[in-house]
Amino acid sequence: MEKRSELYRGKAKTVYHTNDPNRLILEFRNDTSAFDGEKVEQLDDKGMVNNKFNHFIMAKLEEAGIPTQLDERLSDTESLVKKLDMIPVECVIRNVAAGSLVRRLGVEEGKELNPPTFEFFLKNDALHDPMVNEYHIQAFGWATAEQIEKMKALTFKVNEVLKALFADARLLLVDYKLEFGVFDGEIMLGDEFTPDGCRLWDAETREKLDKDRFRQGLGGVVEAYREVAKRLGVQLD
Ligand code: TMP
Ligand code: ASP
Repeated sequence: MEKRSELYRGKAKTVYHTNDPNRLILEFRNDTSAFDGEKVEQLDDKGMVNNKFNHFIMAKLEEAGIPTQLDERLSDTESLVKKLDMIPVECVIRNVAAGSLVRRLGVEEGKELNPPTFEFFLKNDALHDPMVNEYHIQAFGWATAEQIEKMKALTFKVNEVLKALFADARLLLVDYKLEFGVFDGEIMLGDEFTPDGCRLWDAETREKLDKDRFRQGLGGVVEAYREVAKRLGVQLD
């Protein structure tokens, strides 16, 4: 596969065209951003760790019957993916209260949520990713009722697969964000699943091992991602 011109430069990944109009290359960079791009830093090796981590998780999801855009890992920091028409909403499931839920509702961080909650956010940094519901998504034509149901069902299926995978590695999957797109009329999981887009705590000590370390200035960000990878058995070196 031949890498061609840049299609899009996101906050943490760059997307390239290839010689195949139905395939793109994702390059995971070391850039780490928070607060809608207000705080940005380069963290050594983060691109490599996240690319390998994402490949590992997406392969587990495919094995469980969840369609994803990932085809193959091409290098330390690049992966070949299907070119999806991305749906501009973020699907968030929370198993434990943290982050914006705690700020919005004034609930205690760490409270187990039964049942797990599901939320949609509009992917728009300028508007600070506002929460939206199924009516907004349909009224503005971001997705159909059928696509909304599919995204919800797949996001919950991911929860069952990954909660168990992380629990076996003594990790608590607190929450996560997924993005979907359409390929040949089919809804597929796109973007990434890495510690940049989820919260993972040590199951016993509840130490934070995800991007909250960066958001909250706790340090040891990539070291924490490496620890998660090691516990899962992701081969990094
Ligand atoms: P939140 O608590 O800030 O709403 O985030 C919930 C989860 O979704 C958390 O794991 C971080 C992830 N997330 C992103 O990765 N990108 C985003 O733009 C948003 C809003 C959330
Ligand atoms: N992904 C968003 C950003 O980089 C929000 C976040 O993760 O805090 O600004």
